[in-house]
Amino acid sequence: MNQPPNPRAHQIEIERLNKHYGAFHALRDIDVRVPRGTFVALVGPSGCGKSTLLRTLAGLEQASSGDIRIAGESVTRLPPRKRDIAMVFQSYALYPHMRVSENMTYALRLRRMAREAIEAATTMAAKTLGISPLLEKYPRELSGGQRQRVAMGRAIVREPKVFLFDEPLSNLDAGLRVHMRGEIRRLHDRLGATSVYVTHDQIEAMTMADHIVVLRAGVVEQQGPPLELYDRPANTFVAGFIGSPAMNILPARIEPDGTSARIDGTENTVALDRRFEPGRAVLVGLRPEHLCLLDAKADGELSGVIETVESTGSATYIVARLGAHSVCVATATRRRERAGDALTLSILAKEVHLFDPQTGLRLKDATARTAKSPDDESEGLPCEKPTRPQ
Ligand SMILES: Nc1ncnc2c1ncn2[C@@H]1O[C@H](COP(=O)(O)OP(=O)(O)OP(=O)(O)O)[C@@H](O)[C@H]1O
Ligand SMILES: [Mg+2]
Repeated sequence: MNQPPNPRAHQIEIERLNKHYGAFHALRDIDVRVPRGTFVALVGPSGCGKSTLLRTLAGLEQASSGDIRIAGESVTRLPPRKRDIAMVFQSYALYPHMRVSENMTYALRLRRMAREAIEAATTMAAKTLGISPLLEKYPRELSGGQRQRVAMGRAIVREPKVFLFDEPLSNLDAGLRVHMRGEIRRLHDRLGATSVYVTHDQIEAMTMADHIVVLRAGVVEQQGPPLELYDRPANTFVAGFIGSPAMNILPARIEPDGTSARIDGTENTVALDRRFEPGRAVLVGLRPEHLCLLDAKADGELSGVIETVESTGSATYIVARLGAHSVCVATATRRRERAGDALTLSILAKEVHLFDPQTGLRLKDATARTAKSPDDESEGLPCEKPTRPQ
């Protein structure tokens, strides 16, 4: 029990973790392993089990089966206070009758830490978070952003091995949220901590995390570095969840040549960078930002009619109709097109994603770097020129 932790061990190891609430199976065989210092984002739609997983990590919920190890030591049966974990909640959960300084030092006082040590830890945490002038105030006298910092301050004075954050920024306005994202990430780096951060905002996950875990209905759909999930979503769920605006997913069929797919109900085809079985039904995934707008008369791959054009100033979003399908196109340039205009689009073959219409699973590239299952190689037969060398 008192052995020094193995520095090479993963800091957090969640192994075949299950959580039942009565008959309801909230977490199913969760496996997550992350090295020390990693910033992990847990993402997924409302009700998928993010908070349940976080609360089970913290010990606020009992695991039904499986194991949780922190720094190599199983904590599955330990009460929350013995897990060396600090949690920051969406609601901040500050004690209203205590001043900021008392809120921050509460856990240390419970531990009967020496007064000087408590003062030193509080001063340091307040300085780090820029809340030194607020120490004598009550929570009701603070703005949302300030309360959020106090909640973080209360977590960092304890110097835990692991920080858990449950949607800590969702009560803040958009500008402050972007600012606090950067602050939390910098704080994480400065403290050398391991953090698990729950959000349903995939942009937050993409910009803050080293490792993203995508949950749906208590199941891990995919996990890995942000850009790996963006570049190679394992299924249509992850494809639709990671990336904004969401990936366009259209039913199609492989053409007789095997290296292009025709969108159902249209004459539009997209070129593929690998060969597939002619006639096979597929789902084609096209990211809005990968679709290039061509001159209407140009000989592009996809032609349709514009339905709406929206500009945010920095980006233009065009929704176009391709046969019975709507497709979103995102571009950083200002456009003159209007609703009703014809449009022609092209996309690079290597940027076309293909999925199985029955299972929703990605049809893997023959050039995939992380081939894991035996059918990885069988789906796409290599074309003459693989786009990504091994
Ligand atoms: N104490 C409980 N008893 C019974 N069911 C529960 C309990 N807590 C959570 N659940 C159920 O478990 C599922 C996951 O809940 P959880 O709070 O983990 O979702 P979440 O991903 O955090 O959602 P949100 O994004 O809305 O916060 C939900 O269907 C929820 O109804
Ligand atoms: Mg939640």
